Amino acid sequence: MLNPEQIAQDAAAAFAATDDPDALEQIKARYLGKSGRITELLKGMAALSSEEKKTTGAAINRAKTAIEAALERRREALREQALAARLAGESLDVSLPGRGEPRGGLHPVTRTQERVEALFRSIGFEVADGPEIEGDFQNFAALNMPKDHPARSMHDTFYLLDENGRVAEDILLRTHTSPIQVRYMQAHVARHARLGTMPEIRIIAPGRVYRVDSDATHSPVFHQVEGLWIGEQVSFADLKGVVAEFLRRFFESDDLQVRFRPSFFPFTEPSAEIDVAFMSGVLEGRWLEIAGCGMVHPNVLRHVGIDPEKYLGFAFGMGLDRLTMLRYGVNDLRLFFDGDLRFLRQFV
Ligand code: FA5
Ligand code: MG
Repeated sequence: MLNPEQIAQDAAAAFAATDDPDALEQIKARYLGKSGRITELLKGMAALSSEEKKTTGAAINRAKTAIEAALERRREALREQALAARLAGESLDVSLPGRGEPRGGLHPVTRTQERVEALFRSIGFEVADGPEIEGDFQNFAALNMPKDHPARSMHDTFYLLDENGRVAEDILLRTHTSPIQVRYMQAHVARHARLGTMPEIRIIAPGRVYRVDSDATHSPVFHQVEGLWIGEQVSFADLKGVVAEFLRRFFESDDLQVRFRPSFFPFTEPSAEIDVAFMSGVLEGRWLEIAGCGMVHPNVLRHVGIDPEKYLGFAFGMGLDRLTMLRYGVNDLRLFFDGDLRFLRQFV
């Protein structure tokens, strides 16, 4: 009969000789499995006398316990080895240069908008806002453009469908920021309704606007900033002064020519368009229209409940994308809307 102690020693040696957890379990079966060495010994006991059974049985049990303990130790050792190997593999080289967090930047038109807001705030203008989905009244009718007025044809826009899938009658995507004038004046009048007098209105209102337009200087989605100054003694000379001073500060250039070209808007009288040109640079000598402007039409004041005999003022609507083109010397304004990072990164 095989010596149980010897078997236990063989098992411990076999366990120690493998580094592979799967192989270890197979070796275990060779000793403790159904037809393993220890099991064989136990079977052999049937032939022994009861006296022999006692001593041999005890010896076999000791051997079995020793094998189990050796197995457990080896399992534990292999687990630790595996962990150590994994930790070594995952170690950090803290001397490597960092990958860095990519940083975002502001869109050039956003930069222009922030710059315009800061400049106008510095001369006492407040910044107002209004919705992009606008009423027909605010976008057109209150601005002296009743239904079927020919000036509406220059403001073809995107209309919205109602619940029945038909073009909604009275709402649209605003075609300019001028409806914010209407909203602001109405609210201002309501706020001061009980006073006999009305404080001056001095606001700008930047925002996104929509038109069916597309070429190098027109985009179907673009940005304007509205300006409005209403008081008892505001003149066209004030309009020219404010705009000229703004442009000088915005472009930080004396190399700039500005002209007021007579024009027509139903909501101003007289009306003008403002063109600028640089005497040098990429866009040298090329006149570009940046704004429409004029003295607010008496009918507009009437529509919002302001007495045109007592108050008057000027308004303008300036193209923020056009200002951005000129400032950075970009010759196609649609580039601002393509989202091409190679283009946009140049402004960060
Ligand atoms: C208007 O929109 C008037 N509401 C401006 C105004 C306000 C006049 C207050 C009087 C009083 P106009 O359609 O010209 O006017 O547009 C004003 C400016 O927006 C243009 O000078 C131009 O700079 C810019 N603009 C117009 N259409 C586009 C377009 N499709 N893409 C980019 N910029 C545009
Ligand atoms: Mg125009």
